[in-house]
Parts: sequence; structure tokens; C-alpha cells
Amino acid sequence: MIEVHNIQKSFNGNPILRGISCTFETGKCNLLLGGSGTGKSVLLQCIVGLMKPDIGSITFDGTVFTNNKVDIKQEIRRKIGMLFQGGALFDSMTVYENTEFPLKMLTPEMTREERRDRVEFCLKRVGLENAGNKMPSEISGGMKKRVGIARAIAPNCTYLFCDEPNSGLDPATSIKIDELIHEITHEYGITTVVITHDMNSVVEIGDHIIFLHKGQKLWDGNKDEILNTTVPELKEFIFSSSLVRAAKKVDEETEGGLAAVVEEPLKETEEAPKTPNS
Ligand SMILES: Nc1ncnc2c1ncn2[C@@H]1O[C@H](COP(=O)(O)OP(=O)(O)O)[C@@H](O)[C@H]1O
Ligand SMILES: [Mg+2]
Repeated sequence: MIEVHNIQKSFNGNPILRGISCTFETGKCNLLLGGSGTGKSVLLQCIVGLMKPDIGSITFDGTVFTNNKVDIKQEIRRKIGMLFQGGALFDSMTVYENTEFPLKMLTPEMTREERRDRVEFCLKRVGLENAGNKMPSEISGGMKKRVGIARAIAPNCTYLFCDEPNSGLDPATSIKIDELIHEITHEYGITTVVITHDMNSVVEIGDHIIFLHKGQKLWDGNKDEILNTTVPELKEFIFSSSLVRAAKKVDEETEGGLAAVVEEPLKETEEAPKTPNS
């Protein structure tokens, strides 16, 4: 579990984070939800130590990170995997080399063969077992995110941070990437933090959701609770999407609620490929 306590951060006297306290639970996809410019990326950078908060503390599984000794901070940093916006792959390295890179940096004691086994395992896990020799310029946006995920989990991360993992992806690919992050989180018991402004992600993978607005936490809960929120700013955020407004209406008017409607088409598409000539 990651505990964030009263984080404050200003730039040139302009307050961006106004005392945020929240927890990110182990083995769950914790979503940091909010509109553009609300301070989500700044908070994430404070948590992983890329930026220093003015006030406040962060604890990783009971160990204080903020202002602690360099070696203790480094030990925590080693356990952090990051999926950057846009993937941030090294253009001059193959998919394989990109995935191997953090192992070379963080675990010099690993032999070349051990690294190869780990890279092959991670690429297979994200569905890219045949893409190791490709260059980033030769693969699609969705594949780049998959490489980013493989690279982030290669050193067996305990904590995984993803900043807008869906940015630049079409809706269908976005869902696949969300699902992959969700599966990996649950499979390996990772404490995952996903920054998003996407309500699809909320519905798909929102085990625990923290809503930020103008540098403050206004709400937290899970995906089943969010549609019934009474917080005006969150309501405005959610229902600015006409699709979500329509979904809420269906939820209220249908027996069994939205879940009953959503389950049906999903089953159909999953089973469709098995039927010949369909
Ligand atoms: N290094 C910086 N220096 C000055 N202002 C910054 C810096 N980083 C972010 N900001 C400002 O902080 C605010 C929140 O930014 P950010 O956390 O990136 O928002 P988002 O919620 O979209 O991720 C924005 O107004 C941004 O301009
Ligand atoms: Mg951002």
C-alpha cells in the first residue's frame, strides 16, 4: 500500500497540489481521475520522487520515502515500474533491447541468459513474443504501450505507475491496454496507479478511484459507487459525456441495472470467432 499524506506543491507561488491525502491499495488498479491540468501528473511525479513536494509525506508499504536516506529511497525506486505517456521507448533500440534495458540497469547480477528468459517471459505476457527484433518505428501505438508495460514489469516491480496509458489510442486498443494492466496487477499483486481522464477506464478497471479537482481530492470509492456520487464537481465530470448520461439512464430504467446490459454484448463478441462463417 502507498500512503500519501498532505502533499502540497506550488510553482512560483501558484498552488497546484493543495494538501492531497490518499492511499493506493495493494493488488488493485488505483485510478487518479480528473480533468486536464488538475495536478495528476505533478502528484505522480511527487510520489515517485521525480519532483519534491513542498509539504507532505509518502510511505511505501510502511517505509517513508520523502526525505529519507538516499539508499532507502533508491531501494524503493528499484521497486517502481513506470509506463510513461507515449511509451517513451528508446528509438534506436529493438523491442527486446528496450525491455532488457532496466534489467541491465537495476540487476547487474543477472546473467545474459537470465535476462533473456525474463525478457522473453515479459514480451510473451504482453502478447509480443514475435516482436523482439522490431524497432519502435515499425510497431503500432498499442504495441508500443505493450512494450512499455513489458519494460516496466521486467524487473518484477512492486509498484506500477501509468500516466494516461490510453492517450493516442483508439477505443478498442485502449480497452485491451486497460485489461492488460488490470490482469497484470491482479496476477502479480502489484500496487498500480493509473492516471486517466477516461470514463471507459473507470468502468473497466477502476478497483479504487481517487477524483482530483483543482489540486484537491474531492472523492474516492470504486467503479460501482461512482455513478451515484453526490459531489457536484465529480458529477459534472462524469456526466459531461453523453454516453455516460445515456448509460446512467439505462441503469436506472433496466431490471438488473447497467451490468445486465453490458454483460450481454461482451459474451457475444467473445464467442463470435468460434462460429464459422459468422
Ligand atoms: N514543472 C512545472 N512548472 C510549472 N508549472 C507546472 C509544472 N508542471 C506542471 N505545472 C502546472 O501544474 C498544473 C497541473 O499540471 P499536471 O499535473 O500536468 O496536470 P494533469 O492533471 O493534466 O496531469 C498545470 O497548470 C501545469 O501547467
Ligand atoms: Mg498529466
